[in-house]
Amino acid sequence: MKVAGRETRKRPARTAHDPVAQAAVASGLLAWYARAKRDLPWRRSADPYRVWVSEIMLQQTQVERVKDFFARFVARFPDVASLAAAREPEVLRLWEGLGYYRRARQLHAAAQQIVADHGGRFPRTAAELRMLPGIGRYTAGAIASIAFDEREPIVEANSRRVIARLVGHDGPLGSAADDEPIWEAAARLLPPRQPGRFNQALMDLGAMVCTPERPLCGTCPLAGQCVANRAGLVADIPRKAARRTVERRHETAVVATRRGRVLVVQRGAGEWWAGLWDFPRVPGRATRAAGGIAACARLGALRCGPPERLGTVVHTVTHHRITLDVVRCAAGRTEAAATDRRWVTPRQLAALALTSPARRIARLLLP
Ligand code: ADE
Repeated sequence: MKVAGRETRKRPARTAHDPVAQAAVASGLLAWYARAKRDLPWRRSADPYRVWVSEIMLQQTQVERVKDFFARFVARFPDVASLAAAREPEVLRLWEGLGYYRRARQLHAAAQQIVADHGGRFPRTAAELRMLPGIGRYTAGAIASIAFDEREPIVEANSRRVIARLVGHDGPLGSAADDEPIWEAAARLLPPRQPGRFNQALMDLGAMVCTPERPLCGTCPLAGQCVANRAGLVADIPRKAARRTVERRHETAVVATRRGRVLVVQRGAGEWWAGLWDFPRVPGRATRAAGGIAACARLGALRCGPPERLGTVVHTVTHHRITLDVVRCAAGRTEAAATDRRWVTPRQLAALALTSPARRIARLLLP
């Protein structure tokens, strides 16, 4: 184009990759965060213990759901030392309802490791944090940046989507290999100052503005820098993954009763809900369960009377949708003792870490 006799070249559009845009992204995002950030209980202090507990809870659970669990957990275990000294069943009981209990077990083990190997002092770098059970790349980056202002990127569900749209990455996402370009972009975009605030701002923007469906691009502080927005590709990024099909099946839970107690069995290693307590189950519907009950290995050598139908509990585990018929039967005689089987009173049931369907069954038993 000619302007007053001088030739000017059209400048290429800036993308989020170049250094000027990086600074603009950081300042726009941090200014937005200052006025719009969510008021979340774990943000009221930079105590690494609280940041850690919240990040572990948030790994597979929605923010709204985590809030109350977090408050209860840190009220009971206010620091690493109190968590390390706890007995595992109590930790699991406080975790009940959050699911993915492996997280609770690893949290407990990591607290014990911090006390044993670090004199109770929280490791301060992402590299040291990753040596602890249950702390991977994301959680290490989150704790190091939020609690210690270490310049570490993070990629989780919300920030992954924000960054993919910002840099116009339209490849598949979700696996470690597919997410690598997003980690690289997250590292490039991270400002030298306030990396923890920047990371949290990315997550909040993803949760509140750059949402999966109907994002609010009109109010987005990064709309001007966003490659997907400028190219009209926001609806196409991230690329939609094929849905996993849900498998449906029927099982029957057996509430065996004897002298005011009910039988519960502990889920074994490698099973869903390992370590939690459940009612014994047999495959198939209640109508056909009577024979199965007699043969149920988890009932030991117990002889049960005719099953009485109590109700149905429908629950989902990973991609399985299980319709669980619940029956009660009077148990005849005592079977051999086993550490993964217990006869408990209703009171003990209330204190035990149960699977979520077992907790719902326990409610069916209340008068
Ligand atoms: N999701 C995971 N970590 C989070 C955090 N610290 N704040 C908000 N959402 C999150």
